[in-house]
Amino acid sequence: MSVYFTDTDPTMRARASSGPLGQAALAALRAPSVFNTQPWRWELHDGVADLRAELGRRLPALDPDSRLLVVSCGTALNHAVVSLAAGGHAVAVHRLPDPDDATLLARLVLTGRRTPEPMDLRMAQATTVRRTDRRPFSAIPVPEESIETLRAAAERHGAHLQFLRDDQVVELTVAASHASDAEITDRRYRAELSAWTHRPPGSADGVPVTGAVSTVPRRVPVRDFAPGDHATLDPGEDSDAGTRYAILFTDADTPTDWLIAGEAMSAVLLTAVCSGLASSPMSDVTEVPSVRQSLRQLLSGLGWPVLALRFGIVHRPGEVPRTPRRTPGEESS
Ligand SMILES: Cc1cc2nc3c(=O)[nH]c(=O)nc-3n(C[C@H](O)[C@H](O)[C@H](O)COP(=O)(O)O)c2cc1C
Repeated sequence: MSVYFTDTDPTMRARASSGPLGQAALAALRAPSVFNTQPWRWELHDGVADLRAELGRRLPALDPDSRLLVVSCGTALNHAVVSLAAGGHAVAVHRLPDPDDATLLARLVLTGRRTPEPMDLRMAQATTVRRTDRRPFSAIPVPEESIETLRAAAERHGAHLQFLRDDQVVELTVAASHASDAEITDRRYRAELSAWTHRPPGSADGVPVTGAVSTVPRRVPVRDFAPGDHATLDPGEDSDAGTRYAILFTDADTPTDWLIAGEAMSAVLLTAVCSGLASSPMSDVTEVPSVRQSLRQLLSGLGWPVLALRFGIVHRPGEVPRTPRRTPGEESS
């Protein structure tokens, strides 16, 4: 039996979503995704869950190669695995299992029971409270041991996290400004941004202006999600003085690497929550090819930058509103 998680038949849906894989697919809905496109769907069979890319949710101007789409699917994949681990389920992950089927990104196969570790439970709890926080972070420094823990989380998934020195942060600032200039003057990018920040009423995706922060002086500019609009999230008094910036990168630049990068990104962001850190991704610096190339130089050509991440401590945690999520029965648009 094959059940699309997006099946609209309530009986089939209930049966599929009540099992551990269905529950994991539900938990994976909380994963971060580029422009909150949630570009995946799950197909559930007996003891097997297939994760598929939904190419109709790709961002053609911003992400012509589908790299960020696959990274987003990778975050959902790891969120699902985290949920299964906390529920005491062992699972095998087969990445891109069918060379003739490029949209089949991963197959999860239940392999038995395991005893969850306390950290598994904390990571699963972190999926329920994690948010992208674009506000400037405080001057309180990120502890060195947290940085080591975040780096280790990326390595465990086969990706790497390079934390930037102050002189390299200056280069990231230049990269972010160049990316912003290149994108905002591109009509196709502006149309895409507008489409995903002004969703039709009742839509359960995209980035609402309630999560956008007005432009304020800060070390590295973040993507402006409300150009010309009034961003509603109060940026506060901080200016990112204690913020640490890192580049998530992979050894190669294939779809498997992008998927692994997404899994690592999920693990890193959930680990940040467990370490009391706020975070937000910055993929604008890898969307413009020449700017991505400049980040490669920051890595001394040793890997392929996927995106940048910022980590810090906020004075007012929990104030960032939740972004919407699709419901399991919804067909893709
Ligand atoms: C691949 C990827 C790229 C992203 N790029 C950016 C970005 O450039 N700027 C930003 O502020 N948020 C970025 N985000 C965060 C998404 O906008 C965010 O995950 C989405 O709106 C859902 O909100 P949430 O993370 O609070 O659940 C990115 C997320 C992913 C997975």
